[in-house]
Formats: sequence, structure tokens, C-alpha cells
Amino acid sequence: MASPNLTSSLRETRVFPPPAEFAARAHVQNFAQYQALYQQSVSEPDRFWAGVARELHWFHAPEQGLDWDQAASRVRWFADGTLNMSDNCIDRHVAGGRGEHTALVWEGEPGEVRALSFRELLLEVGRCSSMLRALGVAKGDRVAIYMGTTPEVAIAMLACTRIGAVHSVVFGGFAPQAIADRILDADCRVVLTQDGTYRRGTEIPLKRSVDEALRQCPSVRSVVVFRRTGSPVAMEPGRDLWWHEQMAGAEPLCPPEPLGAEDPLFILYTSGTTGKPKGLVHTNGGYAVQTYLTTRLVFDLHPDDIFWCTADVGWITGHSYVLYGALQNGVTTLLYEGAPNCPDPGRFWQLIDRHRVTAFYTAPTAIRAFMQWGPGYPRAARLDSLRVLGTVGEPINPEAWMWYHSEIGRGRCPVADTWWQTETGAHMLAPLPGAIPTKPGSATLPFPGIVPAIVTKAGEPVPAGHGGLLVIRKPWPSIARTIWGDHARYVQTYWAEVPGSYFSGDGARQDDDGYFWLMGRVDDVINVSGHRLGTMEIESALVAHPRVAEAAAVGKTHQLKGQAISVFVTLEAGARPSPELREELRSWVAREIGSLARPDDVRFVQALPKTRSGKIMRRLLRELAEHGEIKGDTTTLEDFAGLAKMREGDEA
Ligand code: PRX
Repeated sequence: MASPNLTSSLRETRVFPPPAEFAARAHVQNFAQYQALYQQSVSEPDRFWAGVARELHWFHAPEQGLDWDQAASRVRWFADGTLNMSDNCIDRHVAGGRGEHTALVWEGEPGEVRALSFRELLLEVGRCSSMLRALGVAKGDRVAIYMGTTPEVAIAMLACTRIGAVHSVVFGGFAPQAIADRILDADCRVVLTQDGTYRRGTEIPLKRSVDEALRQCPSVRSVVVFRRTGSPVAMEPGRDLWWHEQMAGAEPLCPPEPLGAEDPLFILYTSGTTGKPKGLVHTNGGYAVQTYLTTRLVFDLHPDDIFWCTADVGWITGHSYVLYGALQNGVTTLLYEGAPNCPDPGRFWQLIDRHRVTAFYTAPTAIRAFMQWGPGYPRAARLDSLRVLGTVGEPINPEAWMWYHSEIGRGRCPVADTWWQTETGAHMLAPLPGAIPTKPGSATLPFPGIVPAIVTKAGEPVPAGHGGLLVIRKPWPSIARTIWGDHARYVQTYWAEVPGSYFSGDGARQDDDGYFWLMGRVDDVINVSGHRLGTMEIESALVAHPRVAEAAAVGKTHQLKGQAISVFVTLEAGARPSPELREELRSWVAREIGSLARPDDVRFVQALPKTRSGKIMRRLLRELAEHGEIKGDTTTLEDFAGLAKMREGDEA
């Protein structure tokens, strides 16, 4: 578990009340209002969420609230209602007279800027919907999207939701094997991609990765390629089509399809402890309602806000906040294609000034990088448009929180540390910035409607100040409903560990004020720069290498990334450890999964330490990765056999 944050946060006593000026115009203006709202939300959850739902447009307004079959771990919300996400993100605002307001501003890494009003977005999304229909995509079909950050990725996602197709966005950093696994698991027949994208001045050839992935996916019949960089790409006749050619002939008027609140909206894959990545399924109604409300209250959005969430759309934060939360609220959302330090580490601050960003949402790993680059870069910018800051992805150390608050927020802007997950769909713990005093390093208190608890494995509450498992007692609207094709795994992972409650996989403690302090994962998931990687995935990639016999991956503290990956491998008979093989294995994992999975270190061992039952003693490996010295000669074999014998019976 991420102990450095725990030890520093245990000593943390600073409290920052909401700035008076901010609170005066906030949706929720003081702590008493938050308490009243929270109280109402948990005592009458159906009524509370129905009130929020009414702020959206429904073709058929729901009368039902939560329908929870506990025995089967089946959750439904607003099940008798019908609505459409793209309708709520676009048409509703055009109909309300805000068609000329800017919906989306995009800046490419080389510096180009494009803006689309809600009316323009409506036409583009309409065209893209017609294009998908012409390709034979129907309601319920899965569409894979492997694109960079362009307006087109937003258009593609919204177009899927408009016709009821289920998108599966695959992060552009994933390698061909990871793309293929995801396409096959969801049985996608159509893939939307682009030639390439720019990152730190170089082009990442996205189409090439798709081509490689598709060698394993014979059932993909169409690939639509958006031209971003203009670099030459291979186009397979009969399968590959140019986006601009297909869009040119497509009908821009495409009415949104009324969809059942419980129809699937998208699948998003995330890593688990065991087995292949899990395709979490989010549905239309509950997800729309909760992403709408959390964006509105946590960033305290008003019609003229300019919202910038720096997450890639390939992650849940990109889905819920870059796109759906922001657009449902009718505000302008900013998309930036490239790296924060291109052409120099001041890029983000220049973007904020240039586009007059009012709400900024990023990750602790980025904040720590900014700190390392020095205060000169943000100090060279005005940053006077900012009103509120957010952070997400991993526990934020109080030092980074303070730096963010003073250097970026200039002490004026409340900082919202938001705890949530791919599975939760939307914020679970977060301050409402006009109402809840913040403490550096704490995600503060539950969002209205959320009932968290910290418990023992048996589900017993633990007293304040003690660490335990973070669970949520009751389903909320945006909870993932299942794992695509594997409901049993969903039940096992989330509802069986602590019977009766949703189990998050995180450890946390509450302080005497009831504030939550996250302590990191309690399972074998490694959080690298706010991205989840399962140890199992890394290990299977390694054992697929011809010279590797066995492998174990663990996380270790890393100053910038939060956690880095350390792997221990045993080699096949006849294979010899060498610095070259170490480098080869690091690149191998990056090639199999994606560069964010590249291990920081690879250690060759004679045997992995195991318990009598054959379980790898990860705790031991974690200790070694964290504190053990790497001996002078990096090819030295470590002999765990004796050690393992001594500790037999010790569970990892
Ligand atoms: O361990 C928690 C950590 O990220 C995990 C969820 O990862 P993912 O599904 O990829 O979603 C990331 C974006 C929502 C959690 O189980 N995590 C996320 N936000 C925080 C956090 N840990 C501490 N504080 C946070 N604010």
C-alpha cells in the first residue's frame, strides 16, 4: 500500500475553508447546505436522483428509481425511462438557445486551434451517426475507437451514443496486442481510428497499431481513418475507408435514438488482479444523471465556464468529465492533443491563459512533474481565469496539493481531490468547493447520494483513525452494471469480498471529522501515473517471452509516477541473465501492453519466493523492490529459495 502518503497525511492538520467570494456564487454555498443536501440524498435517494434526472431531457421520463436485486448483484436505475446521451450533450442546448455557444475547443500539439459551437457539433455528430449507420452499425453493436485527442474522437463517441451503438474506446497508448484483446472481447466489427497523433513533437502511428492488431481480428469489416497528420498509411481495400470521404456524403440530420436508461452506453476496459482486463459496462440513464450532477457541483459550473480536464478520452476521466459531464452541463470543454512539456514545460499554463480556462482538472503525477520543472513556468503565466482546481487518479501527497493550491490556484482557487474509479463512473468522494473545507491530501467527504464506509474484511466498521477497506453500502446511479460477458466475475470482484457492499479495492481511513484519506490499493493492482495495471497482465506478458519461465510484478514508490513497476523473473533452462535481456524484457512488456507498462526494473532470480500453497509472496517482493539494494553487478541472481523456506506459510 502507498504508505508515504499515509504517514505524511497522518500529520496533516491544515484546513482550507472555501473562499468567501467563491462560496457566494456557488451552487452549494456552505457546509450546512451540503449537510442538508447529503441528508436528503441518503434518506430519500430515489427522490433525490429523480430531481436531478428531471434536469435532463427524457423521451419518456422515468418513474422508477433504484431497482436492486442484491442476490444477483443486478442494479438498475430509472429503468422505465428513455433518453439519449448525445441529445443531452448537444440538442438540448441548441433547443435551449445556446447553439452558438462554444461546445468544444481543441488545440493540437503543433499549435492549431479549432472550435465547434453546439450547433456545429450537432451537424458533425449527425453526419458521423449517419456514416456509422451506412456502415451497418445498429443499436447495441460495439464500435472500437482508437484515436488521439481530436475533435473527431468526441464526435465519434457522441455519434455512437446517438444511434445506441456501444463504444469501446481504447487508449491510444495501448499496444497492438492490447487493442486486439479488447476488440475481440467485445466483438467489435467497426473500428474508428486516425493516421497518427503528435506527442512531444513526434508522431505516434495509430493506424499502424490498428493494422497489426487486426491481423488477429478477422471479423472487423470496416476501419474508418481520420486524417490528422497526413502521413502515409496502408489502406486495406474493402476494409479501410477515409473518414473525410465517408463524412462528406453523410446526412447531417440524424435524430437521436430514444434509448432505454439501462441500455448499454459504453464498455471501458480496466485492469484487475487476475485474468484479462475487465470490460466494464456503463448504461445510459444513471451514468448521464450522475456525470451531469458531479461535474456541475464538484467544479461548480456555470454557463460561461471553460472546463479543461487533461485526461485522455481513453480513460474513464476522459469519458465522464472531458466529454459527457462537461457537455451535458452546456459548458465549453477544452481538448489538448499533446504533452505538457512541448515545446516547453509552460505549455499547460499558456493553454489556460489562451483559452481562459476557469476549471482545471489534472492528476497528481502531472502536478509532481510540474513541481520538478520549477515554479518559473506557471509564474510566467497569468492564470487569472482559474476559479477551481481538481485532481484525480491516485492519492495526492500534501506537498503536491499545497504546490497546486499556491502555484496554480494562487491561493484563490479551491482544490477538489476527487476519489472514484472506472467502475463508479463518477465522483464518489470529493469536496463541493463552495461548501466543504479542504485538507491537503484528503478527498474529504461523500458526494450526495453516496454511502461509503471503512470496514474490516468481515464488513465491520473500523473506528476513526484506523485503516480499512473502502466500501460503498448502496448502489448509486453511475455504477458499472456488469463486466462484459462475465457477470460472475463482476459479482466476485465487487460484491463478494465484503458481502452486501460494493468493494472498491482501496484502503482508506477516516479522521475525526469524517474526512476520507485514501491509502492506495489493497490488491495486486499497480497505479502508474494514475493508470491501473494488473500485476497478472504484466506477468502474462513476461512469461510469453521465450526465455522467461516465471515472473512476478510488484509496485514500488516512485517520486513522479506514484508507483513504478518492478518485476522479478526466473529464466528458462539455458537462458542467461544479461543487461541486454533486461532491456529486451522491458521493451517486450511495453510492446505487449503499452509503454506505460514498461517495468522500471527487471531482476533475475533463481526462484520466486512462494508459500507452501504455491502463492507468490508478493509482500516480500514489494519489500525488496522498495527497500532492497540493487547490488553492484545488476546481473546478479538473487536466491530466494532459502528465504522462501524460512517464511513458509506466510501469506503474501
Ligand atoms: O486506487 C484508486 C485510485 O485510482 C483507482 C481507480 O483507477 P481508475 O479506474 O483507472 O480510475 C482513475 C480515475 C477515476 C482507485 O481505485 N484513485 C483515483 N482517484 C483517487 C485515487 N486514489 C486516491 N485519491 C484519489 N483522488
